[in-house]
Amino acid sequence: MEKYTFESLAEWDREYVWHPFTQMRQYRREEPLIVERGEGSRLVDVQGRSYLDGVSSLWVTVHGHNHPRLNSAIKEQIDRVSHSTLLGLANVPSILLARKLVEITPPGLNKVFYSDAGATSVEIAIKMACQYWRQKDNGQHRDKTRFVSLGEAYHGDTVGSVSVGYSELFHTAYRPLLFESIKIPAPYCYRCPLGESAGSCRMECLAAAERVIAENADGIAALVVEPLVQGAAGMIVQPRGYLSGLAKACRRHNILLIADEVAVGFGRTGTLFACEQEGVCPDLLCTAKGLSGGYLPLAATLTTDEVYSAFLGEHREAKTFFHGHTYTGNPLGCAAALENIRLIEETGLVASVREKAAFLESGLERFSQLPHVGEVRQRGMMVGIELVKERAGREPYPRENSVGHRVTLEARRRGLITRPLGNVIVLMPILSMSMEELKQVLDIAYEAIRVVTEEASP
Ligand SMILES: Cc1ncc(COP(=O)(O)O)c(C=O)c1O
Repeated sequence: MEKYTFESLAEWDREYVWHPFTQMRQYRREEPLIVERGEGSRLVDVQGRSYLDGVSSLWVTVHGHNHPRLNSAIKEQIDRVSHSTLLGLANVPSILLARKLVEITPPGLNKVFYSDAGATSVEIAIKMACQYWRQKDNGQHRDKTRFVSLGEAYHGDTVGSVSVGYSELFHTAYRPLLFESIKIPAPYCYRCPLGESAGSCRMECLAAAERVIAENADGIAALVVEPLVQGAAGMIVQPRGYLSGLAKACRRHNILLIADEVAVGFGRTGTLFACEQEGVCPDLLCTAKGLSGGYLPLAATLTTDEVYSAFLGEHREAKTFFHGHTYTGNPLGCAAALENIRLIEETGLVASVREKAAFLESGLERFSQLPHVGEVRQRGMMVGIELVKERAGREPYPRENSVGHRVTLEARRRGLITRPLGNVIVLMPILSMSMEELKQVLDIAYEAIRVVTEEASP
């Protein structure tokens, strides 16, 4: 590889790279962290500094970085073939993986459609749902074209996924491009959109969702939900029974349920898939991130025989699912995913996540004592710590305060990589981290929050 120094890379990074979800003016003022290699739970930068990866490299890493088994699986596949198209052809790892995915996902999901990112897996689910109703029963249900989605939802950045998302900050600029979806209130209990509080709440948000669904059912194709936790919204943890309540409402009113398990799947919440915790079997399930163990861009949309069968027909009927990406079903990604799943099974990873989640829960108790911690939310190994300017009134820090970003920089100085969601500090440790490493993650995050919030509002 070409020779470089930290200084030359930093200069070229500033000059040539446009980073996603990053205000480049601010980024270019700060010293970049340039990752050179990974070792288990740690990332090492070009200056030789080592950091715990507290966000699993954007919520993807399962067994750690540079894992010998995952490395070998990919190398073995490279020696056979690195890519061949799935458009009208098949390849070995994509077949084996599809069979395995059908085995490990909730019952009824029997068909696998591959793509490359969480957003594309949702985009595909939306298009499939729309076309399904158009083609089912000779087009009797072709008016079912609308989608229901939650306030604060995030399903990725392609135009369809953004249309079923709702983030004032992320999405406003693209409004003119989007189709309108029917919004239901987010079950954001700390800031309840319906004004309920813990004492009075009877899950009004679920009742509101049911009303909206009932009123519009004839025009609705599907409801899209992030099961158990709305991640990018700031780790909003749903009350128990919310997901199964939504699923029942969908069944009752004959609309499809799309479970976006992109963030919560692959063990993150303490079961392999989050839907399992409420006995929910969706009609479509989207998975990405942890699917390849955090190695390669791979995603899948699974669906039922019922949905699949509506796409069967003769060429002239044009019932084909007209969607595909060049790298759909990439053999390297599928080989990594197969080895990832093998490792999950061999190491009993999902059970260990439950133990580690309990450890995190007790370690997080002291965070609530900090005067600017409004709420600590957790499900499995997903944690959001919402910082507030003033706790009694739950007053948020103003955006210009950049408190989340400052906590991130402080944590980085102390050897931990995190990435905030506004004023919410996110901890998404690698699922294979040891208890000792998790303790270090907690200790650094605590100190970083304490120091920055004391400075921000003494
Ligand atoms: C629930 C959910 N869906 C979809 C996505 C988009 O995934 P990707 O960034 O791989 O497109 C994300 C990303 O954070 C997510 O959390």
